[in-house]
Amino acid sequence: AAAFVATKAQGATVQATDRKGAPVVASQWESAHNNGRTDLVAGLDGEPYILLTDDTGKLTEYALRAECTHLGCLVGPWDSARNRFVCPCHGSEYDRTGKVLRGPAPQSLKLAKVEVDDNDFVSLSTWIEPDFRV
Ligand code: FES
Repeated sequence: AAAFVATKAQGATVQATDRKGAPVVASQWESAHNNGRTDLVAGLDGEPYILLTDDTGKLTEYALRAECTHLGCLVGPWDSARNRFVCPCHGSEYDRTGKVLRGPAPQSLKLAKVEVDDNDFVSLSTWIEPDFRV
């Protein structure tokens, strides 16, 4: 947990930082996660978020808060064999959009908006659009 240095922003947008605290560079992230692998970044409120890529290898427009909505354990990395995220604590399962597939988690993972700026840095902000998973 110490690897996640909170980057508190004034508003509800924050630069995503990797496990070493370095700003995430979109193109580097994409090439390092080119087979659907996911990893955590520090996002809003310094909380861990899952960054994902789509079928073309580009970052998706959403990140997922990594805390299971059951009791807050960190969900595991993407399990490509099972095609889902699995929470190690009590077995809740989520699809790649964070939609809950199996409880006891009562809700889908929380979304954050992903944006890439002109310098290729990644930011996360509060998801204000409707939840596309319902
Ligand atoms: Fe994830 Fe209980 S905390 S299933």
